[in-house]
Amino acid sequence: MGFGWGTGDSVLNATVSYYDQHAAEFFKETAEIDLTPQYRAFLARMPVGGKILDAGCGSGRDARYFLQHGYQVEAFDASAEMCKLASEYTGQKVHHRTFDDVQWILVFDGVWACASLLHVRRDSIDAVLRKLCCALKADGLMFVSFKLRDGEWEQGGRFYNGYDQQSFQTLLARHPSLQCFSSWVSDDARPERKNEKWLNALLRKSATNLQSEMDGRTDELKTNLQKDTRTNGDNTGTGP
Ligand SMILES: C[S@@+](CC[C@H](N)C(=O)[O-])C[C@H]1O[C@@H](n2cnc3c(N)ncnc32)[C@H](O)[C@@H]1O
Repeated sequence: MGFGWGTGDSVLNATVSYYDQHAAEFFKETAEIDLTPQYRAFLARMPVGGKILDAGCGSGRDARYFLQHGYQVEAFDASAEMCKLASEYTGQKVHHRTFDDVQWILVFDGVWACASLLHVRRDSIDAVLRKLCCALKADGLMFVSFKLRDGEWEQGGRFYNGYDQQSFQTLLARHPSLQCFSSWVSDDARPERKNEKWLNALLRKSATNLQSEMDGRTDELKTNLQKDTRTNGDNTGTGP
């Protein structure tokens, strides 16, 4: 990919440095954003008390909301400074790790990736989506949101990857194990950024396509999947 910043590592490092350096300011700006419509859409399809992974959690705002509403939550972020603030805000340890480090397998009922995958380069997004999909239980749910803009760009020291509806469909076509059953455009919830649009989507890990997700994976994953399918085989009542 010809993005002018160089390697994937330098893109990640520059973006994470931005969050490390501006952590307090970013926390102040985002910790109280009201995402009620997104929460409602996601939680309506989650099992009560289910397990959620907040991937790229920033301030910890959403992890905190889910905890307060009785869900079990693991949260992580690539910025050490954001992790400190999010740990304080949520009252539990937030993992300092990147999307590339995700190694959970069949653990979560839901993955919540709000405005975080937009920092992953296009030449890495498929691998990251596969990791997040593997972290989901069979039939699990994933929420993702991106800035509504097709392409990669740099802004104020951060790297961005955005999608419009068409390029998002093209992305998902490469992930048959993630079925998109709802997508919608919203305004930025910050009044001063009302003109910025977001593309939100809810994806269901599709049991029928799991075999393709499994291709090339380890025996451990296959064993866990069989166990998980047996345990959750009758748990179809939470689907959209
Ligand atoms: C725009 S903020 C969104 C934060 C939060 N999810 C929210 O909605 O307020 C993006 C977050 O993703 C984190 N991030 C960026 N690249 C990441 C990566 N490769 N792995 C994990 N987190 C990453 C940043 O540190 C930052 O906290």
